[in-house]
Amino acid sequence: MTSFTDGIWNMVIFVGTVGGIIVLYVFVKNYSAGRPAGEGVQSMGHKWDGDLEELNNPLPRWWLNMFYITMIWGVIYLLLYPGVGTHPMLLGWSQVKQYDEQMAAAEERYGPIFEQFMNEDIAVVARSSDALKIGRRLFVNYCAGCHGSDAGGNPGFPNLRDNDWLHGGTPEAIKTTIMDGRNGVMPNWGEAVGEEGVKNLTQYVLSLNGRDFDGAAASAGEKTFNALCTSCHGKDGAGNPQLGGPDLTNNIWLYGGSPKSIAASIANGRKGEMPPHADFLGEAKSHLLAAYVFSLSKR
Ligand code: HEC
Ligand code: HEC
Repeated sequence: MTSFTDGIWNMVIFVGTVGGIIVLYVFVKNYSAGRPAGEGVQSMGHKWDGDLEELNNPLPRWWLNMFYITMIWGVIYLLLYPGVGTHPMLLGWSQVKQYDEQMAAAEERYGPIFEQFMNEDIAVVARSSDALKIGRRLFVNYCAGCHGSDAGGNPGFPNLRDNDWLHGGTPEAIKTTIMDGRNGVMPNWGEAVGEEGVKNLTQYVLSLNGRDFDGAAASAGEKTFNALCTSCHGKDGAGNPQLGGPDLTNNIWLYGGSPKSIAASIANGRKGEMPPHADFLGEAKSHLLAAYVFSLSKR
């Protein structure tokens, strides 16, 4: 059990909080000790305009009582809840404890439901509207920050509804992605191929996507592409889910499809990181989330 004065900072807060109330009390007490209003009020010795005088009248009773009530309220509050440093006080309340209790209650309530879905195939779970409702809620809580609340993606964070996959779209691949995380490593080629090389490669990549391109530059780029890029992006740029190399022919872009951002990807490289969730969410929730994500791309 921590004491009130463990550590310098606790001590400072203890002295500040408790000392503050005592000083306030003394101050208010002192000011209420004037003579009752009316009889022989003392002058403070200040006079203006001949007859305007400052008198030492006591504060009105009701006003003082408000101060006392606030002080008593403060003391009661500080006795019950942590307010003087990190001491847990009488109720032993803490944010962490409250969170743990709520999590335990939720686990007791939802645990068996998650377990039940975990024993079914992801593709089967993906057809249960009850499971998808829970999956959607989990997704909004844990995934929407990066992938968007409709899973439509953000620059650098893939769209999960479009059936275009960096790491594979089978139920198992999706579950592995969620549990173990993924790293997309696109090396930077700016130095190796030079400015001209980046420009040519960009034109070739544009040509793969049915976009406007410069023919001469693109055919120069094609040679470099076949030498340097197909190991990760697949033959003809069709993608390689083993290495997370995106399909560069479907005009779907992780980092935006303007010639400028394509050139930036090639020159500077990219590093998309999907964090692992196994420890944090556990397998049952990951299973349900995999079913939810799988269902999105099958509509
Ligand atoms: C911190 C941001 C972040 C969070 C949170 C996050 N992701 Fe991701 N996720 C990414 C990034 C970045 C990638 C792309 C990795 C890459 O570039 O290879 C990714 C990739 C994926 C993929 C693979 C997509 C593909 O095309 O193969 C799936 C599936 C996925 N995330 C699902 C989820 C789910 C479900 C959650 C919630 C449990 C989640 N993600 C939470 C950042 C995040
Ligand atoms: C070591 C494997 C590897 C090699 C080699 C590689 N890439 Fe990549 N590339 C990736 C990965 C992985 C990504 C996705 C990055 C991410 O997930 O953040 C990517 C992304 C890209 C993108 C962005 C795609 C988008 O959707 O925004 C372009 C463009 C690209 N690469 C072009 C090339 C070109 C051109 C070459 C050859 C000079 C090349 N890459 C070589 C792995 C590779």
